[in-house]
Amino acid sequence: MKFFIDTANLNEIREAASLGILDGVTTNPSLIAKEGKPFKETILAICNVVDGPVSVEVTATDAGGMCQQARDFTTWHKNVVIKLPTTRDGVKACKCLSDDGIPTNLTLCFSANQALLVAKAGATYVSPFVGRLDDISHVGMDLVRDVVQIYKNYGYKTQVLAASLRHPLHVVEAALAGAHVSTIPFKVLDLMFRHPLTDRGLDQFLKDWEKVKS
Ligand code: G3P
Repeated sequence: MKFFIDTANLNEIREAASLGILDGVTTNPSLIAKEGKPFKETILAICNVVDGPVSVEVTATDAGGMCQQARDFTTWHKNVVIKLPTTRDGVKACKCLSDDGIPTNLTLCFSANQALLVAKAGATYVSPFVGRLDDISHVGMDLVRDVVQIYKNYGYKTQVLAASLRHPLHVVEAALAGAHVSTIPFKVLDLMFRHPLTDRGLDQFLKDWEKVKS
């Protein structure tokens, strides 16, 4: 499973990248706004830290405008992946960009039908939003499971990118479901390392080492 980090915070991205297990980054306008720096400057800084796919979201809502923005974004850096909303226009734009070999990530996916549509349009990634479905009392991970199965049934190449993950168990469940990618908030990535038995065991090993080291 590939690990992307779901943030536009450069310190978090640098720290995650230093672990050596980071494959890419996903951003959205809300994450970039939180950092308080201009959009393009933030994306370029991220691309200089991580040599992997960096999802950059369009803000146009019509297919023509989306494609225009996308073609501009792709000149910024070779690793830019165009994030498009899963709307009619997003699907149209996805088809045009895919036909031209431009990688895409279809975001705000909340149903298996939407995931089918974007696969047919040649999306590189589809992003089912797990946490936001949980928020409205749906089992978000069921969507990931369904989409993985549907894509397998027909051999679609679109990769399932589990998004809106809120806790470490979401990452485990996404892996069990066969999601190709999890995009993980920094706080969740940090929690994935933790186990009290690891801390206790290491503490004991170090104490015992003190007894025998000389
Ligand atoms: O990758 C999508 C993600 O940023 C949305 O997460 O927690 O705002 O639902 P959240």
